[in-house]
Amino acid sequence: MADNQATLDFGGKTSAMPVRQGTVGPDVIDIRKLYGQTGAFTYDPGFTSTAACESAITYIDGDQGILLHRGYPIDQLAEHSTFMEVAYLLLNGELPTADEHQKFVYTISRHTMLHEQLATFYRGFRRDAHPMAIMCGVVGALSAFYHDSTDITDPKQRMIASHRLIAKMPTIAAMAYKYSIGQPFMYPQNDLSYTGNFLRMTFGVPAENYEVNPVVEQAMRRIFILHADHEQNASTSTVRLAGSSGANPFACIAAGIACLWGPAHGGANEAALNMLREIGRPERIPEFIGRAKDKDDPFRLMGFGHRVYKNFDPRAKVMKATAEAVLNELGVTDPIFDVARELEQIALKDDYFVEKKLYPNVDFYSGVILSAIGFPTSMFTALFALARTVGWVAQWNEMISDPEQKIGRPRQLYTGSAQRDYVPVDQR
Ligand code: SDX
Repeated sequence: MADNQATLDFGGKTSAMPVRQGTVGPDVIDIRKLYGQTGAFTYDPGFTSTAACESAITYIDGDQGILLHRGYPIDQLAEHSTFMEVAYLLLNGELPTADEHQKFVYTISRHTMLHEQLATFYRGFRRDAHPMAIMCGVVGALSAFYHDSTDITDPKQRMIASHRLIAKMPTIAAMAYKYSIGQPFMYPQNDLSYTGNFLRMTFGVPAENYEVNPVVEQAMRRIFILHADHEQNASTSTVRLAGSSGANPFACIAAGIACLWGPAHGGANEAALNMLREIGRPERIPEFIGRAKDKDDPFRLMGFGHRVYKNFDPRAKVMKATAEAVLNELGVTDPIFDVARELEQIALKDDYFVEKKLYPNVDFYSGVILSAIGFPTSMFTALFALARTVGWVAQWNEMISDPEQKIGRPRQLYTGSAQRDYVPVDQR
């Protein structure tokens, strides 16, 4: 047997399946012919042991707490890169030269405005609509506005759609916030950085000049970079699956936003801050730790645990350091940051969390920073979606240009009724 094969004894025969190696990380057993060879499916709800695709964008080692984007460690990118540089890296595979970076920033900044008619879409929402509901609706609506970039087989049109999405997400998110507080929308100002432009559209008003605070700008830059991409997470897999049918790129990203909204995924940052506020003070931490460990209590420590990281989430480490820096530099003292640090210390010494390998994830500390900057908790996941759009479009482009890609169509283990005949209502 070739050493790069796996065999399966099933149904009285031995099936051989090729084993493929990546650059780094687990090998994969190629089971594409398994059903044809054995008449059986694999069973993996939640895809805990399934590689759904081949990708060169992001690598995660959950045991070592490693996260690489095109080979570059996340802590180095968070320290040295601009968000536009990371966006270029994820999309194109290499860090840009100074000239490439300047051209990319210019291109993105020329797509930051929304079609003026889209502003009227916001009027259809209740003022108290959740920003993620608005993001789903408005990003989906973009699919009705750009007929010049829907031929997804044309790399140029895919890139125009990608640039539009990256450029417009800050504008859309800022407008969702303005709409919720009844303030006028702010137009982009393209001589600002990507993050500075977003801060001005969010917190600026037409009646006054807005000075971008460099401390806040740097914090947002890091937060966006930390959220940019994360391998085949639920929302990225949603974008890939939607895109595999050839669907409109804007509609695919709207599907990713919908998936990210869930509290088990991107919605955890909002849930984590609400949980910290509910705990309120360190003395109440044991009560909540007890609830998290209670099988009969659905409560979970939001911002803790991860499908892949069974060690620390490297993003959480950077996020915690950023939170300390921002609160100090802004002169903000927030008791929930003390609660968060105390909760982390207690949980990491508790046998339940140690044996289940539950550590703080990217969502545990992000809310402390965002709250200190002035964002309402309802905007936290919208900011996650804003940043993750870069990863979604990079993964979408990779999937569309993959010669092996086919429409995603999983099968099932059927446990319903065997065939039976119709029974007329008067005989039931
Ligand atoms: C993100 O995939 C990604 O990469 C996602 C993300 C990205 O960048 O895209 O990293 C972003 O979504 C981070 C995760 C944010 N979610 C939360 O913080 C919500 C709280 N965490 C959990 O719901 C949970 O940890 C998940 C959803 C994140 C992971 O769930 P898994 O891998 O399916 O694991 P599980 O739910 O089966 O939990 C394993 C065990 C269970 O106990 P047993 O059934 O084995 O006895 O650990 C327990 C769980 O009850 N557990 C927790 C817990 N998380 C898991 N117990 C208490 N508190 C928690 N937070």
